[in-house]
Amino acid sequence: MSQVKELLVEELQDLLHAENQLVAALPKMVEAAHHPKLKEIFQKHHIQTQNQVARLNQVFELLGEEAEPKACRAMAGLVEEAQETIEEGDSKDENAADLALVAIAQKVEHYEISGYGTARALALQLNERDAARLLSSTLGEEEASDYLLTEISKPILQEALAGEFDSRKTASSERAPSAKPRTRTKAS
Ligand SMILES: [Fe+2]
Repeated sequence: MSQVKELLVEELQDLLHAENQLVAALPKMVEAAHHPKLKEIFQKHHIQTQNQVARLNQVFELLGEEAEPKACRAMAGLVEEAQETIEEGDSKDENAADLALVAIAQKVEHYEISGYGTARALALQLNERDAARLLSSTLGEEEASDYLLTEISKPILQEALAGEFDSRKTASSERAPSAKPRTRTKAS
């Protein structure tokens, strides 16, 4: 096998392991998300991710290679961080928790965009046009998903900032009457 093809196969094995981990992790993201649109994005991406695994298997077949995943430590680390983000979200307000989920999900997307970009370039170099076309489809989905995450983060951020503004207002209006002595039940 040429070294370029070897490189492509390794990249695909890495992506296969990454996608497999995401198929398992995305339902937890769906559950953790509060904003209905964010939930929907994660839900749709879960279905897409399952298709992406099938597409990777097709690419291996086209290349006449075994679809064997290779431990992707980078994605394992990102999934671990996502798990932490989910747990930390319990003690945050809903918008802040959702923004943290968007942030880690975009890191995942960027990892995949980089992996699929490389794999497609290598496939094109090897004149594996059908494989490159399949990899392009997935790359497009990852980019679209990244874009949707950027878009949904905008209203959530607005709500988060409005919430902070409201709570500042409440805090200052609560402070005002405290200038007067508070009526307290006297300790006997
Ligand atoms: Fe993916």
